[in-house]
Amino acid sequence: MKSQAKPEQINQEQGATESVTRRTFARIAVGAAGLCYAVMAGYPIYKYLYTPVEKAAKESAVKEILLKDAHKLPVGSGMVFKFGSRPAWLIHNDDNTWIALDAVCTHLGCTVKYEQEKKRIYCECHGGVYDPHSGKNIAGPPPKPLKQYKIQITDSGVIVSRA
Ligand code: FES
Repeated sequence: MKSQAKPEQINQEQGATESVTRRTFARIAVGAAGLCYAVMAGYPIYKYLYTPVEKAAKESAVKEILLKDAHKLPVGSGMVFKFGSRPAWLIHNDDNTWIALDAVCTHLGCTVKYEQEKKRIYCECHGGVYDPHSGKNIAGPPPKPLKQYKIQITDSGVIVSRA
């Protein structure tokens, strides 16, 4: 004779199956949430640890660049360019001297700008001032001069290279 399950027994078994399914779902949900949290927490750490290395490698890969037609830059003016991933200034001073300087402030790393009318390089973050003839820090909090690049004026432009 075949045994038949009582309705109460069937309900208990269904309840157990639903309970296992809910428990499994809850575990998957908790696992997924944990994974998301780990990625969200880990990504900034990854960026902090590896980005400077990648940037340094990218910057050191660039040894020299040609700024086409930059030799036509008028006296008393400047132009921004990128040396690798870094912003930089090429300045043609009033006394007809040229200089190429890194545009990253030596205080806390803001980008500096050349102010033609005031004949200075200025950092708006904390009021740092640099001499546009030498890149020397002359006022405000910057602790050292801007890094200077070597330049060579040619008929096709200005060649900028690491000093
Ligand atoms: S970052 Fe330039 S003066 Fe502070």
